[in-house]
Amino acid sequence: MVQLKFLSAVATAVTALLPGVVAAPDVIGPEPRGRTSTENAIEARQGGYYFQNWSEGSSNIRCSNGAGGSFSANWNSKGGFVCGKGWQGGGARTIKYSGTYNATGPGYLAVYGWTRNPLIEYYILESHADLAPNEPWTSKGNFTIENEGTFEVYTSTRTNKPSIDGTRTFQQYWSVRTEKRVGGTVTTKAHFDEWAKRGMRLGGHVYVVMAVEGYTKTGGPGSSGSASITLG
Ligand SMILES: *[C@@H]1O[C@H](CO)[C@@H](O)[C@H](O)[C@H]1NC(C)=O
Ligand SMILES: *[C@@H]1O[C@H](CO)[C@@H](O)[C@H](O)[C@H]1NC(C)=O
Ligand SMILES: *[C@@H]1O[C@H](CO)[C@@H](O)[C@H](O)[C@H]1NC(C)=O
Repeated sequence: MVQLKFLSAVATAVTALLPGVVAAPDVIGPEPRGRTSTENAIEARQGGYYFQNWSEGSSNIRCSNGAGGSFSANWNSKGGFVCGKGWQGGGARTIKYSGTYNATGPGYLAVYGWTRNPLIEYYILESHADLAPNEPWTSKGNFTIENEGTFEVYTSTRTNKPSIDGTRTFQQYWSVRTEKRVGGTVTTKAHFDEWAKRGMRLGGHVYVVMAVEGYTKTGGPGSSGSASITLG
């Protein structure tokens, strides 16, 4: 935690010095998926797992850290949040999980991670409520992983948005299951390989979590729901 706070402070200081990097506006509510800092993005570590409990805006979200690889979330929110559990480092992993997910409004159940150099925010969507991206999505076709499912691939660009390294412009990569499910196995390498074939390069893995996310599109509805997920 001390180290994370230090990194966060450095990131903030560097950002402040860069001309042309516009500070994120003070956002109440509509900003989805923003990350104010590593400090609040990754709150705690438990039993070798990372627990993520991040929120912004007028979030009414209860994100609970369970034993081992479990977590749960209940929300009725006009803001944004990410609640999840996973690992620092990420990289190629076979992620098994089970549980429940019941949501309305913009939001996902996803394997969610970040890389640096390049700075990438990525999602492998297992299920979702409203698919309502705030940035336009560029389609990169689809692919099928045997015994796992078919996925559509998208990229999007976040311009001067909060990231794990402060306010940056960066790419988002998306794999979206054509058939939603809650529970199963996600082979992250299969997605990374398919993304690479499409020129979607990843950098050094920072963390990956199985996560529930809800957000509010500008002028749109908030999200509500509940989820209870266990890894392994
Ligand atoms: C999650 O974050 C919120 C807001 O900072 C906090 O009130 C809550 O106690 C946190 N929950 C856990 C389980 O850490
Ligand atoms: C999901 O939530 C809705 C609205 O709260 C509720 O009516 C429904 O029974 C829930 N479904 C499941 C499977 O829990
Ligand atoms: C996958 O892409 C092919 C070729 O563009 C298209 O014909 C097909 O409908 C797509 N399938 C899904 C499930 O999106």
